[in-house]
Amino acid sequence: MSHHHDDHNSILASPTPHGLIDRAIVSFDKGLRAIVPKSNPSTRPLPVNSDKMPELSITESRHVAGLMRINHTGEVCAQGLYHGQAVTAKSERVKQEMHHASLEEIDHLVWCETRLSELGSHPSVFTPVWYGLSFGLGAVAGLVSDEFSLGFVAETEAQVSEHLQDHLTRLPEQDCRSRDILTQMDIEECEHRDMAIDQGGSVLPEPVRVTMRWLANRMKDVAYHL
Ligand SMILES: [Fe+2]
Ligand SMILES: [Fe+2]
Repeated sequence: MSHHHDDHNSILASPTPHGLIDRAIVSFDKGLRAIVPKSNPSTRPLPVNSDKMPELSITESRHVAGLMRINHTGEVCAQGLYHGQAVTAKSERVKQEMHHASLEEIDHLVWCETRLSELGSHPSVFTPVWYGLSFGLGAVAGLVSDEFSLGFVAETEAQVSEHLQDHLTRLPEQDCRSRDILTQMDIEECEHRDMAIDQGGSVLPEPVRVTMRWLANRMKDVAYHL
């Protein structure tokens, strides 16, 4: 009992560890919300034009679920990347920027999660792994420099947009619901890309861009099925 009390006092006595513990708890909570389904309150409703559920065959609905699982995983990775970069960003401004971006991506995460459950499916079983890997990548990008980190965001968002465009062509004709969601996400990913460039993001070296694309493709291969 008294031992416990001492611990508590020593934490309060020194502001630095206290702040660190606070930050660690907040980070942990953000991470958990990225990987635990239904743990985020969505701030905006599904961006769909009609409440009518499209009629899909079993094969079609399985295919759409595969695509939406990839998109959900992409958003989990976005959370990991932004959280990792926020931890290692040099300037307070970039830290804030990363935090803000991750909040906007939460809506995307929730929209994909909702569509997946409408389709009777679920997010990727490897969600915690995707989050962890992305967090590590983000943290490394943040360590290089703020310009690199912002450039990394710009490139990520550009690749996500490209891939959303591709998914839009692969959805069954009648699935307006998924199409509306992906269209709105695409608009916002392009805004994120532009913001990162405006903030001073540098153009990444070709090998880095190629590696990012390769990693994203491996993620897509796995997340479509699992
Ligand atoms: Fe997103
Ligand atoms: Fe984005």
